[in-house]
Amino acid sequence: MRIGILTGGGDCPGLNAVIRAVVRKGVEHHGHQVIGFRNGWKGVLEANVMELSPLSARGILHRGGTILGTSRVDPFRVEGGVDLVRENLDAYRIDGLIVVGGEGTLGCAAKMVTEGVRVVGVPKTIDNDLAATDYTFGFDTAVQVACDAIDRLHTTAESHNRVMVLEVMGRHAGWIGLHAGLAGGADVILIPEHPFDIAEVCEHIRHRHASGHQFSIVVVSEGSVPKEGTLDPPQYERDEFGRPRLGGISNMIADEINRRTGFDTRVTILGHVQRGGTPTAWDRVLATRYGVAAIDLADAGEWGRMVALRGVEVVSVPLDDAVSALKVVPEKMYQLAEVFFG
Ligand code: F6P
Repeated sequence: MRIGILTGGGDCPGLNAVIRAVVRKGVEHHGHQVIGFRNGWKGVLEANVMELSPLSARGILHRGGTILGTSRVDPFRVEGGVDLVRENLDAYRIDGLIVVGGEGTLGCAAKMVTEGVRVVGVPKTIDNDLAATDYTFGFDTAVQVACDAIDRLHTTAESHNRVMVLEVMGRHAGWIGLHAGLAGGADVILIPEHPFDIAEVCEHIRHRHASGHQFSIVVVSEGSVPKEGTLDPPQYERDEFGRPRLGGISNMIADEINRRTGFDTRVTILGHVQRGGTPTAWDRVLATRYGVAAIDLADAGEWGRMVALRGVEVVSVPLDDAVSALKVVPEKMYQLAEVFFG
């Protein structure tokens, strides 16, 4: 068979490990050809391809980013896009496509299935917010980077008696903020699932400082929202999938903390540092397992499915399940974090 593969959406540590696993198992064990489409769905629209061999997939396991490139282009938002996808897949005699992506890219993949395109999905996102899988690869690396940042910010917070506000990624779900904040001992954690009241945030900080601590660490997920009627939510531009381009809410939060408590407050927005660089060993292993499982599904002709981690097993689930609901932080996990606030 001739199997296509693309990586879409934001880059993510472990993408190259998936590509390597698909190529090694696909070519060396199943005897398939693997054709890479560059820059996500854009590469399918533009017929921008590269043949992938075990040689070209060599030396990439530990590398961040994706050798295929990525984009947030959505063929359903392009005039004639779906027909062009079908034409180009036919032109390159592609029997089926492995799509590695998050909610946007896999959402497209699920719609492509209803258009007759043969797809297997692989869940990728540092946000870990895809419902059908316990973990997405990239999340572990992002949490480790954010936790390291908290450890470093502690130094300045402690030396200068400051409140340090760290903004991490997490669009709809606060998994990175929650895990990094718990691991790094944050004094307040704000996540999108739990709209915050800035007065309560300031109260936690005042309480902490009144009980002898001279500094605080506040971790804020970029998608955090103020409780209605407390602060005006920030306005954001939109990206190619039509989603708000988040980032910067911590500036507003830090200004309010400073204004209301009088404590010297600084902001660090971690941004793409969380997505870049080498994947952790755990992410490399998960990505490798996903890659092998995905090419096995393609080999078996099990299209319209996505690989997923359930407990310790890699299984497959209908692609539709993967994009029908987001996996958000349950309230009881947030309550656990709250034990350590203030
Ligand atoms: O979807 C993953 C994510 O990391 C989000 O947390 C974040 O909002 C977004 O990507 C930012 O991506 P970019 O700046 O590349 O558009």
